[in-house]
Amino acid sequence: IPVDPFDLVIFGGTGDLARRKILPGLFRRFCSGQMPEEARITGAARSEMDDDAYRALVGEAIREFGGPRACDHGTLEAFLERVGYEQVDAMGEGGWSALKARMRPGCVRAFYFSVAPSLFGALAERLKGFGLADDDSRVVVEKPFGKDLASARALNLTLAQHFDETQIYRIDHYLGKETVQNLMAVRFGNVLFEPLWNAQFVDHIQITVAETVDVSGRGGYYDQSGAMRDMVQNHLMQLLCLIAMEPPARFEPDAVRDEKLKVIRALDPVDHHHIVRGQYAPDDNQPGYRAHVEDPRSRTESFVAMRCHISNWRWAGTPFYLRTGKMLRARTSEIAVVFKDAPHSIFGADAGRHRNVLAIRLQPNEGMTLDVTIKEPGPGGMRLVDVPLDMSFAEALGPEAEEVPDAYERLIMDVIRGNQTLFMRGDEVEAAWAWTDPIIEGWQTRGDVPKPYDAHSSGPEDALMLMHRDGRKWREIR
Ligand code: BG6
Repeated sequence: IPVDPFDLVIFGGTGDLARRKILPGLFRRFCSGQMPEEARITGAARSEMDDDAYRALVGEAIREFGGPRACDHGTLEAFLERVGYEQVDAMGEGGWSALKARMRPGCVRAFYFSVAPSLFGALAERLKGFGLADDDSRVVVEKPFGKDLASARALNLTLAQHFDETQIYRIDHYLGKETVQNLMAVRFGNVLFEPLWNAQFVDHIQITVAETVDVSGRGGYYDQSGAMRDMVQNHLMQLLCLIAMEPPARFEPDAVRDEKLKVIRALDPVDHHHIVRGQYAPDDNQPGYRAHVEDPRSRTESFVAMRCHISNWRWAGTPFYLRTGKMLRARTSEIAVVFKDAPHSIFGADAGRHRNVLAIRLQPNEGMTLDVTIKEPGPGGMRLVDVPLDMSFAEALGPEAEEVPDAYERLIMDVIRGNQTLFMRGDEVEAAWAWTDPIIEGWQTRGDVPKPYDAHSSGPEDALMLMHRDGRKWREIR
């Protein structure tokens, strides 16, 4: 179903994110017929360029990142007709009137801030000052949304001077991932899981986001950030919220976001004994983390693992183990809900320990498995074995699953539709920083040095110990 006609302005329209994600995503929506005829996209940036030069840049980006339809010359040309460019001075007066002249009455206006957060205030002020934005316009802001509570609060205040909270779309692209939304469908669309979804039946929950990439090429940003700010404060905490929250009354923006906020506010402070930081070490074949950043003695973590607790009735006593890192064995993101043992084994001690595990794979090969215990086939008596009930979404849903839009495509269309459910509210972001700040400050005051780990491993030994100490173990990264 096509969305309403829109004027989308991408500030930072020549940047990496615009070229890799935003523009190719818009192109794929165009191919799917969701972008209406009257949609217009304007790149805005500092560089001097005309419409044609920008179209050439966008065309190149789409051929590289836009998927198979990008080879279809006619389709790409038709998309590029909807694209234009305006040179704009974010801190001055230049270009704003010309940009305004491109806005059409009756179209939804959305302004994507794909720029450094230090420019958010100036852009917001000019959008209002030059009369580009009205009460129905939307602004989309990218991460990082601050680097701590104070800076996030300052950004929220700056945006609030010019826009209402209902107009602000803070992106966390993890919320746009198909399986992340499926998590809510699985929890609240089935009668099977919810009665067991609590401390009485769940032993623990593991959330892993493992990556194989290193930080080369973006060491400048990453070294100021580290895994805690780059991944935990946003993506992993959002996953934690969706897995742990109470059922919202409706699938509506504030109903969902209220419940997520309650989870963050119920998180206990984390004891530093329950956190492990790591940094990938060099080996014979490749440089280590420190060679990818400017500071040869950097203490920034490229890996973090932790145990945390949510102090509420549902989860009291159930640990949540989170881990994420770069340069690990495999690219895999997974949430595993590990259920408790059956209260009594009628099969005796020889039957061993068997547990149900619900694993939700976010990427790659999105799907779910549920480990169930059955009798080992054959005449050997009552021997038990765990087998996975395996559901790969691609197999189960066939070609439709392959058409699944990527996170950015979906989120941009949600902006046009005016649906904020999958965007973070200002208070959520602040609460997340309020929880992570003391952890980061603790590392700084103690002068904590991250543990080295081997490239292509599962992270530092201490991360394994974090679980072993509790008589549990991480699922394999593969
Ligand atoms: C980004 C982080 O937000 O998410 C990156 O800045 C990380 O460091 C990326 O690699 C992971 O996203 P995805 O969609 O590839 O899992």
